[in-house]
Amino acid sequence: MEKKLTDTFGRVHNYLRISLTDNCNFRCFYCMPEEEYDFAPASRLMQASEINTISKLFVAQGVEKIRLTGGEPLVRKDAAEIILSLSELPVKLTMTTNGSRIHEYLSVLKEAGIRSLNISLDTLNREKFLLVTRRDQFQRVYDNIHLLLNEGFHVKVNMVVMKGMNDMEINDFVEWTKHEPVHVRFIEFMPFSGNRWTSNKVVTLDHILQEVGNKYPIERLQGEPNETAKKFVVPGHAGTFAVISTMSANFCGSCNRIRLTADGKLKNCLFSQHETDLLTALRSRQDILPLIMDNIKAKAKEYGGQFHQDFENIHPEDIHNRSMITIGG
Ligand code: 5AD
Ligand code: SF4
Repeated sequence: MEKKLTDTFGRVHNYLRISLTDNCNFRCFYCMPEEEYDFAPASRLMQASEINTISKLFVAQGVEKIRLTGGEPLVRKDAAEIILSLSELPVKLTMTTNGSRIHEYLSVLKEAGIRSLNISLDTLNREKFLLVTRRDQFQRVYDNIHLLLNEGFHVKVNMVVMKGMNDMEINDFVEWTKHEPVHVRFIEFMPFSGNRWTSNKVVTLDHILQEVGNKYPIERLQGEPNETAKKFVVPGHAGTFAVISTMSANFCGSCNRIRLTADGKLKNCLFSQHETDLLTALRSRQDILPLIMDNIKAKAKEYGGQFHQDFENIHPEDIHNRSMITIGG
C-alpha cells in the first residue's frame, strides 16, 4: 500500500492509537491529574459510528494497526460494539487495558480476533497495588492475566518503574517469566501534567539491565522495525522481558504512531502540545483528511519538541500537555 501518512522526517505513520474514554475505574497517581478530575461528558466523546468513520479514513491512508486505549477502554458502555466494528477493518486490532474487566469481555475479544493484549500491572504486591491504583483489585487483574494465558493470548504486562515505589520488584517480575509465558515490559516513568514526576524517580534501561543482570543471564532478542521496546530473555524462561526506554534512550527516530484522544483530537506524539480537533470538524462535515496531513507534517523530531533526552534537566512544570488519562498512552 502507498505510504501516505509521512512526516517531514520521512516517518511513515501506520499505527493509530485510539482512546475510547478518559474514564477509568482505577486511580493510578502517575496517570491522573493531581486536582479533582471531571471526566468528559459523553457528548464530547467520539461516538461509536464516529470512531468507525475516522478509523476507516486512517486505514485508507495506510494504517495497519489500531490499539484501543483509555483511560480504561473497557469501562466504556459500548466498548464491545466498537471492538467488533473495528475488527472488520483490515488492521491488526489490539488494546491496552488495566485488566480489571477482561473476564467480562473474553468472548468479545475472541470474536474480534484479538490475540494479543497489553495489561498494566505495576506491582505483584496486593497492598502496593492498592497504594498505586487506590483500588483493591490486584487479585482480579492477576487472575485475568492467567485467564488470558490459559486461552492462548499473547500477554504483555506493562510495569511503570518508579524509584522507591516498585523498582525493588524488577526481578520478581523477571522471575514470573520463568514458568509463565508473560512478556513483561518495564516502562521508564514519563512526565505528564500533574503526575508527580521528578527525574530522580526515573529508573533507566541501564539500571534495569544491571539489576536483572546481577541475578540472571540475559540475552538480547531481535526487535521488529518500529518496536518501542528493547527485548530480552533469560535463557530457559517461558516468557520475556523488555524495556521501554522513552526517557533515557528514545525511539522517536522510527516512530510510526499517531494518537486520537477520546474527544477526537489528533496528537502526533505523546508529548505534543498541539492537537487537531478532528471530531468537531467531522461533525461540521468538513473534510478531515487535510487536517490529518497538516497534523502529521507538524510532528516534531522528538518528544513533541518539548524536551530532550537529557531528562535530568527537564522541568516538568514547563511541559504543556494533557494528563496521561486524557491521552491514552
Ligand atoms: N509513565 C510511563 N508509563 C505510563 N503509563 C501511564 N502513565 C505513565 C507514565 N507517566 C502507562 C500505563 C499503561 C500505558 C498505557 O501507559 O501504565 O500501561
Ligand atoms: Fe486507569 Fe491505566 Fe491510568 Fe491506572 S494507568 S488510572 S489503570 S488508565
